[in-house]
Amino acid sequence: MSDPAGQSGAVCEPRQQAGCSQHIDDRQFARWTRLLEGRAGLFIAPERKSFLASGLRARMRETGCEDLAEYYQLLSSPAMQAREWPLLVDQLTVHETCFFRHAPSMRLVEKVVLPEHSASMTTFNAWSVACSTGEEAYSLAMLIDHFYAGNSTARRFGVTGTDISLPALQQARTGAYMDRRLKDIPEDFRERYCTPVIQRRFEVEKELRERVCFAQLNLRDVASAPMADMDLVFCQNLLIYYDRERRLEIVNSLSDCLRPGGVLVLGPGELLNWQHPHMEKVRYQDTLAYRRTD
Ligand SMILES: C[S@@+](CC[C@H](N)C(=O)[O-])C[C@H]1O[C@@H](n2cnc3c(N)ncnc32)[C@H](O)[C@@H]1O
Repeated sequence: MSDPAGQSGAVCEPRQQAGCSQHIDDRQFARWTRLLEGRAGLFIAPERKSFLASGLRARMRETGCEDLAEYYQLLSSPAMQAREWPLLVDQLTVHETCFFRHAPSMRLVEKVVLPEHSASMTTFNAWSVACSTGEEAYSLAMLIDHFYAGNSTARRFGVTGTDISLPALQQARTGAYMDRRLKDIPEDFRERYCTPVIQRRFEVEKELRERVCFAQLNLRDVASAPMADMDLVFCQNLLIYYDRERRLEIVNSLSDCLRPGGVLVLGPGELLNWQHPHMEKVRYQDTLAYRRTD
């Protein structure tokens, strides 16, 4: 492991107390971001320096470390690293999400992707990339189930949600959410797929939950992951955290996971001027999506 905390002296002198300034200097920033990307596949853009600093400080506080050097030691210690790395990764990722977050993209799935697909195929595989706590994956499952419910031929479908964050995935697997999240779900779906449970919570209905599975997957490992022949790859609010070069790597590897005719849905504005020999733009209002052509 490299030495981002500069235990040899230069970087951390004078020692910064956890309770003091959030500042980390450029050299420390470069070293920590190298370590985070190399070890965890986590990219922190230069403009998010204070986000990194406050994330590190939060973990230092939790672990009782007084400065970056001590925290780095803890992170490298064989006894602690298996526990602390996931917590640090979780601290340094943004999990904000909601059901049916981007309505035009959901409409595109309902009005274009599903009808096109159902004309020729009997199974449908969707992937919610960077699914956070699962709302996006369950939203897609509701849309797909609803679409097929009105269809006389029995259809099979599955939705896979993946994320780097284990705590987020743990929450996703429960399929249980606070009632205040219900407002994001269209009323007929709310009635059909959401069951009240105790303490102002509701649960996604069991049969639908069984259509959705969750797994940890770091985006840098997509090429070697068993994600192939997808009909729909849905990737929103993730690329914004990456620079252009990494965005291109990510979308190129995601497009390799599509079957011919499969569609990649990104967030509008998340990628400009992307060209790929086997992907064509799907034109649908207020969305950014591409169809695999080969
Ligand atoms: C803002 S949430 C987006 C959730 C959902 N897609 C949406 O649009 O509402 C971003 C998610 O990306 C995940 N993430 C960040 N870096 C990742 C990586 N290298 N591999 C996999 N997931 C990552 C985070 O853990 C977080 O849950």
